[in-house]
Amino acid sequence: MSTPLSMAMVGGGQDAFIGAVHRMAVRLDDQIRFVAGALSSTPERAKVSGDALGLRPDRNYPTWQALIEQETKRSPEERVDLISIVTPNDSHYEIARACVEAGFHVVLDKPMVHSSQQAADLIAAVERAGTVFGVTYNYSGYPLVREARHLVQQGELGTIRKVIVEYNQGWLSTKLEASGQKQAGWRTDPARSGLGGAIGDIGSHAEQLLRFITGLEIDSICADLTAFVPGRELDDDVGMLLRFTSGAKGVLVASQVCTGEENNLRIRAWGEKGGLDWRQEQPNELILRKADEPMRHLRSANPYGSPAAAAATRIPAGHPEAFIEAFANIYRGVADAIRASRGENRRDPELPFPDVHDGARGVQFIERAVESGRSDRKWTPARWDPDAE
Ligand SMILES: NC(=O)c1ccc[n+]([C@@H]2O[C@H](COP(=O)([O-])OP(=O)(O)OC[C@H]3O[C@@H](n4cnc5c(N)ncnc54)[C@H](O)[C@@H]3O)[C@@H](O)[C@H]2O)c1
Repeated sequence: MSTPLSMAMVGGGQDAFIGAVHRMAVRLDDQIRFVAGALSSTPERAKVSGDALGLRPDRNYPTWQALIEQETKRSPEERVDLISIVTPNDSHYEIARACVEAGFHVVLDKPMVHSSQQAADLIAAVERAGTVFGVTYNYSGYPLVREARHLVQQGELGTIRKVIVEYNQGWLSTKLEASGQKQAGWRTDPARSGLGGAIGDIGSHAEQLLRFITGLEIDSICADLTAFVPGRELDDDVGMLLRFTSGAKGVLVASQVCTGEENNLRIRAWGEKGGLDWRQEQPNELILRKADEPMRHLRSANPYGSPAAAAATRIPAGHPEAFIEAFANIYRGVADAIRASRGENRRDPELPFPDVHDGARGVQFIERAVESGRSDRKWTPARWDPDAE
């Protein structure tokens, strides 16, 4: 029997969004115990947050610097194995780099850092340290996303010609940031969010999802980025054409001003032999289309599923698994990789997780999208011109 790994968290204090999701996720498999934290940007709030979660006083740290310093002094048996970083984007680089250089394994939420230079530095640091580094592109953790990837790898679609990935939300349709809403506040502030608004916050999920499922490599893009809400500095809407190195073509749409939408992430891909369709809001169903067969609705947790999908499933068919479990599947992969790095097991190929290289690709994608969005080179006037007749 293997001893559970221990985890500290940076960020995720009271009123934070995603930190609590990460904590719920690690509890699902009892492989990782949350034992330490520096949970907020202010020491007082960090303490109150850690107390409320039952952290031992000597492991409830006022700052992430104190966490690293004090944890490093502990014996290898007691020291945390893994640090989960769930702060806003502007602090990712500094904290992640310090954690890696101190020898801790890391899980960091997306987008990884602000620039490709920072991403390259982080890759170098991870390679020097030889530590495990996961990035929570959680949508790649859904069982039927794993199934979709398996079907593509098995050639069920044939050579892929076309991919459409859409990620539409409506929560930033108004100037929510002006109300003091915390998550809207930093996401619309270039200093904290980074170069991109919607493109970084959700467009980067769409990019990773399409790469994960199809294996396609984006060659070039033509992006149109808009800030619809007056006074907003960062894009809240994205439309993009994609060309892949294979010759396939795609469309990526990401918007946070699609009024009334919740979290409508959908990916469709079509090849010479078939097509697939997966929606995050109906995550336990995957549609497979073939030219000469009735459309198939594949469901999760059924015996006809692939080993890859089975490895991402915990409960029998008909009991929906979703967002939290998808995060847990990323942590499953990270835990497996940490144990493999210690020689405790062989790395399980059915437990993939996005790593520092995926994080870097995402950062570069955001940079290129913003650059393309600022350029008008590809635009051709299309209004009807009677003089041209
Ligand atoms: N994978 C996903 O689906 C997903 C979903 C939401 C957010 N995220 C990402 O997670 C990160 C956090 O987003 P959120 O919505 O939870 O933000 P949030 O504003 O709700 O929470 C951020 C937390 O970090 C703390 N914090 C900030 N600076 C800190 C510091 N220097 N030291 C310690 N704590 C600090 C804040 O006090 C707060 O508790 C972002 O990078 C975001 O892009 C990912």
